[in-house]
Amino acid sequence: MRVLVVGGGGREHALCWAVHRDAAASTSNDLTLFAAPGNPGTAALATNLPVSATAIDDLVTAVQQHNIDVTIVGPEAPLAAGLTDRLREQGRAVFGPTAAAARLESSKAYAKEVMRRAGVPTAASATFVGMGPALEYIGNHAEPLVVKASGLAAGKGAVVCKTRIDAAMTVRAMLDGSLGEAGKEVLVEEFLEGEELSVLALTDGERLLMLPPAQDHKRLGEGDTGPNTGGMGAYCPVGIASDALLERVRAEVFEPVLREVAAQGTPYEGVLYAGLMILPDGTPSVLEFNARFGDPETQALLPALPTGARGGFTEHLLAIAERRWNPPAHVHVLDAERAAVTTVLAARGYPENPEKGVAIRLPAPGELDEDVIVFHAGTFRDPDGRLRTAGGRVFSVTGLGATVPLAARASRQAAEQITFEGKTWRRDVAWREIRRAGAA
Ligand code: AMP
Ligand code: GLY
Repeated sequence: MRVLVVGGGGREHALCWAVHRDAAASTSNDLTLFAAPGNPGTAALATNLPVSATAIDDLVTAVQQHNIDVTIVGPEAPLAAGLTDRLREQGRAVFGPTAAAARLESSKAYAKEVMRRAGVPTAASATFVGMGPALEYIGNHAEPLVVKASGLAAGKGAVVCKTRIDAAMTVRAMLDGSLGEAGKEVLVEEFLEGEELSVLALTDGERLLMLPPAQDHKRLGEGDTGPNTGGMGAYCPVGIASDALLERVRAEVFEPVLREVAAQGTPYEGVLYAGLMILPDGTPSVLEFNARFGDPETQALLPALPTGARGGFTEHLLAIAERRWNPPAHVHVLDAERAAVTTVLAARGYPENPEKGVAIRLPAPGELDEDVIVFHAGTFRDPDGRLRTAGGRVFSVTGLGATVPLAARASRQAAEQITFEGKTWRRDVAWREIRRAGAA
């Protein structure tokens, strides 16, 4: 079985790690793993191919050249650019939605339209391509408001605006091109209060299997302060994600959306990520969909799952890609076996202007706790083989434990041990859960 993981971040290192782990647990381990472009972390598990995750033609060629059986697509850009469509045309198995189905992420305007038709709870909003109607809408709605670019904006597309003036200025900047094409269409939406939850579901377009819910930490600073980022940490399991809540997420979010897109002739296959706000009355309201695994949620989720082998995580992915999935009819959630907390180490200046090329000191494996996995994200080896930062998020450090507080301790201890000039990180990942554990 020849498997290719497309992408080169922490999420893709975690995907390679999980596929590798599950294959090693299988009696018939015949896995050959590739990553494109991968990173120094995936290099230990896979053959890194020097092909960018956005070079669609080159990826299609690489799949043919290396005779890849199953391609697992990590990031959103190749999905939106139609990598799945291209590989399917060539008769290749792919895990990831077609470009049309991936519009649930690549066009927030489309996602809102699907949700409206399917009756899925989400913030009230309207979509604009011109300033006049947007101003009128802003004038008629209460503060605060959230302004979002409709297109892909790498985590910079949503701005919470305290005042109408802020909202108007943000809409103006986006329509004027501050986020390029992504912001030529904007949404203005109602601000929702509540606690956020990331729920990811594997699906073949009809049936679905949810992964353990996780919580992301989008703000740069401790105590959830500072600018939004791609995510500074994540953990699972999450105390508020009761069986009853997950049942509502299945029945009120995933199932109606999958039915609606299938009815439109664009069935959704792969992993669908629902970014939810759990409202004070318990309603799961959708903030956004992603057409892929979350980053850094995946780095917490996959190590928390039991080792897969047959019937486990990797087997679900391969079976969906090969269109032979037969999930258990009455199981809707894959349970976590242990708690996991992932701390992101970012470069100084992230997210605006991250430093690059800084030398890294990584502890030898024996120096790290056994309950720790260090996933590479933005790292590279210089010509002398020394590890350096490549900007942005540099590592995801996952700690495991019987409880979230224990996993958090392992994660933070290892995060301390990795050193590079300007290391930027939060020591409070999972603070909500630790507070809950203290109160219990
Ligand atoms: P999005 O890219 O739509 O997930 O938004 C990024 C982040 O902005 C979310 O994770 C929330 O923290 C925040 N956000 C987005 N929409 C809303 C909303 N309607 N109400 C409150 N916060 C929001
Ligand atoms: N962690 C949020 C995302 O992957 O979009």
